[in-house]
Amino acid sequence: MRSREFGRTGRTVSEIGFGAWAIGAGWGLVDEADALAALNAALDRGVTFIDTADVYGDGRSERLIARVLKERGGDRPFVATKAGRRLPAQTVAGYTRENLNAWIDRSLKNLEVDRLDLVQLHCPPTDLYYHAEVFGHLDDLVKVGKIADYGVSVERVEEALKAIEFPGVVSVQIIFNIFRLRPADVFFDLAKKRNVAIIARVPLASGLLAGKFKPDTRFEETDHRQFNRHGEAFDVGETFSGVPYDVGLAAVERMRPLVGRGTMAQFALRWILMFDEVSTVIPGASRPEQIESNATASALPPLSPAQMEAARSVYDRFVRKPVHDLW
Ligand SMILES: NC(=O)c1ccc[n+]([C@@H]2O[C@H](COP(=O)([O-])OP(=O)(O)OC[C@H]3O[C@@H](n4cnc5c(N)ncnc54)[C@H](OP(=O)(O)O)[C@@H]3O)[C@@H](O)[C@H]2O)c1
Repeated sequence: MRSREFGRTGRTVSEIGFGAWAIGAGWGLVDEADALAALNAALDRGVTFIDTADVYGDGRSERLIARVLKERGGDRPFVATKAGRRLPAQTVAGYTRENLNAWIDRSLKNLEVDRLDLVQLHCPPTDLYYHAEVFGHLDDLVKVGKIADYGVSVERVEEALKAIEFPGVVSVQIIFNIFRLRPADVFFDLAKKRNVAIIARVPLASGLLAGKFKPDTRFEETDHRQFNRHGEAFDVGETFSGVPYDVGLAAVERMRPLVGRGTMAQFALRWILMFDEVSTVIPGASRPEQIESNATASALPPLSPAQMEAARSVYDRFVRKPVHDLW
């Protein structure tokens, strides 16, 4: 497993990380044994970056991570969590010093640590980036030692551009994959200049880019790929990366012949790793064999310029129109 620097934190993390949403909730039932096996598989394969949130399974994801790390002992991986989604409704006014303190205290307890490696604001409203006082509260939490660093998880590229104007923001988590190119076009250069870490989330477009779905594939009722296809519960961009399902299936068929060595999922992950501005890619997975396969993407040879160009032309032909200007 290759590593990359995590912005200016002085930390180095595995270039393939582990997205711990599915072991919390939101992806159908993942029982405890499967969740523990998934986490252990990631750590066995050299993953040293875990992304979670206080709301994934209402703390279940954080607590399972704490349990596995305690059982295993040894060097701790970098654990990034998120705060802000415990608010009953997303308003800037909800991001008070008191609320941030309470959310972070809860994550400290769930993760069983004295200091969090990284807290990311969890897709707050765009207007929050015009409220410097919120970043002041986070600076104070760094000063008192409750958090080592903070960053943001964003929906829109413009939020990322604004967020990194605040000097304390060390990382930006953003959707980036073969079906979501705008971050590379307008944000990556600036992030690199400021030495801001980039966490690429939803790298497989919720599994679509693994090339295994069919027009009649059904998901459990408690799986967002069933209940959030049109943004019924949260931003539609988080489900299949915002690509309409039938469009995604057609684009995947055009992408399939481009895959050289490895599987289609590995191709999708290797494609992201071609961007050296990205610090870590965080595929979610709840099965050890998927984790094994995802980790192996780090060892694949670079994609050729022809593969990169062909992937972009599939994007231009199918995905650009429904997606490019939305985020
Ligand atoms: N707002 C935010 O900050 C936010 C939002 C979304 C995600 N995230 C973070 O980003 C992480 C990754 O995003 P994501 O989980 O939404 O999407 P993703 O990584 O694009 O897709 C994950 C899903 O793809 C399937 N999969 C994974 N590896 C596979 C493989 N090798 N072969 C075939 N299928 C495979 C699995 O589902 P099945 O096997 O069930 O098909 C898995 O649950 C999350 O876990 C979370 O940590 C953050």
